[in-house]
Amino acid sequence: MTTDDPTLIEESLIRGLRGTVLEIGAGDGANFGMLDESVDWIGLEPNPDDTDALRARAAQFGRRREPLVASAEDNPLDDESVDGVLSTAVLCSVGDPQAALAEIVRVLRPGGSFVFIEHVAAKRGSLLRGVQRVATPITRRLDRGCHLDRETVASIRGSGLEVVELHEYRLPSGLGFTVPFVAGRAVNG
Ligand SMILES: C[S@@+](CC[C@H](N)C(=O)[O-])C[C@H]1O[C@@H](n2cnc3c(N)ncnc32)[C@H](O)[C@@H]1O
Repeated sequence: MTTDDPTLIEESLIRGLRGTVLEIGAGDGANFGMLDESVDWIGLEPNPDDTDALRARAAQFGRRREPLVASAEDNPLDDESVDGVLSTAVLCSVGDPQAALAEIVRVLRPGGSFVFIEHVAAKRGSLLRGVQRVATPITRRLDRGCHLDRETVASIRGSGLEVVELHEYRLPSGLGFTVPFVAGRAVNG
C-alpha cells in the first residue's frame, strides 16, 4: 500500500479480508460498505441498543447472519473457525484487551488475518499522553468504556499475533488537536 491517505489505508485493509470474517464490536454496521461482497460476515456486538440497527443494516447489505450479542472477551465461536477478524475502534473499549485478543487468536485459523483500526496512546512522556491519562476515567464513563491511553499495538504483539502491516497517523479529535491512530494487519502464526 503506497498511499498515506488514512481513509484509503483503512478501506484497503478492510477490503482485503476474505472468507468468514468475525467483526467484533460491530456497532451499527459502519464497515459494511468496505467489506468485500464475498465475505461471510459474522458480527458480534454486546450492546443491545446497537443490535437492532446492526441487524437492519446487515440486511440492507445482504448479510444473512444474525448478530451475536456477546463480548469480545467471551465469544461463542469455535476454535480456528474464522479466516479473519475485524476490529475498528473496539480495543479501546473492551473491558479486558488481553482477554479479547486471546479470543481473537483462539477463533482465527492459522494464517488468518486480524485487521485493526484503533486510536491509541500518544508517545510516553508527551503532553497529549498526560491529557489522555487524565481524560480516560471520564471517557470510560461517558463514551462506552473508551480508553484513550491504550498501547494497542504492543498488546496485539503480546498476544502472539504477528503484525505484518502497520500504519500510524493522526486524525483530528474535534477538540482542536489530533490523536494517534494505528491501522494494520496481524497474522495468526
Ligand atoms: C466506538 S464503537 C465502534 C463501533 C464500530 N466498530 C465502528 O467502527 O463504528 C465501540 C464498539 O465496541 C463495542 N464494545 C464495547 N465493549 C465491548 C466488548 N467487551 N466486546 C465487544 N465489543 C465491545 C461497543 O458496544 C461499540 O459498539
